[in-house]
Amino acid sequence: SQRTLVLLKPDAVRRGLVGEIIGRIESKAGWTLRALELRDLDRATLEQHYAEHEGRPFYESLMEFMASGPSVALVVEGERVIEGVRALAGPTDPIAAAPGSIRGDFGTIVRENLIHASDSEESAERELKIFFPDFS
Ligand code: GTP
Ligand code: MG
Repeated sequence: SQRTLVLLKPDAVRRGLVGEIIGRIESKAGWTLRALELRDLDRATLEQHYAEHEGRPFYESLMEFMASGPSVALVVEGERVIEGVRALAGPTDPIAAAPGSIRGDFGTIVRENLIHASDSEESAERELKIFFPDFS
């Protein structure tokens, strides 16, 4: 089975949606929480995590938002969990996200879209090392 790195972003924590979102993930049969922590993400961690977006017009505003309060970092394990959590989250832009998805039900603007989930096996491996270096 697979592991994926999930972040419940500062808007999810501020709005009290952590339980709701984790509940949706937990209720999928066969998926297990392997790590869970509330933490403030520092600039160095965020730069590593979002390296692919450096130089994009939204990069600085994304960094500022992600540092605006604590996030919840999770490791979720299970069958096809990488694509599965992405499907639960819905598309990046909440306006385009269908009702029933996390971003579709609760998202507001594109920057504040509540959740990050690794987008491939390569990303998951890279991101798990950044957020849970001691986890194996
Ligand atoms: P992540 O799981 O957070 O990586 O989201 P994603 O994979 O659905 O989107 P992507 O990696 O393309 O963008 C990373 C994050 O940057 C998004 O989740 C948004 O928070 C933010 N973002 C992406 N595109 C835009 C944009 O056009 N404008 C703004 N303001 N933010 C954006
Ligand atoms: Mg992404």
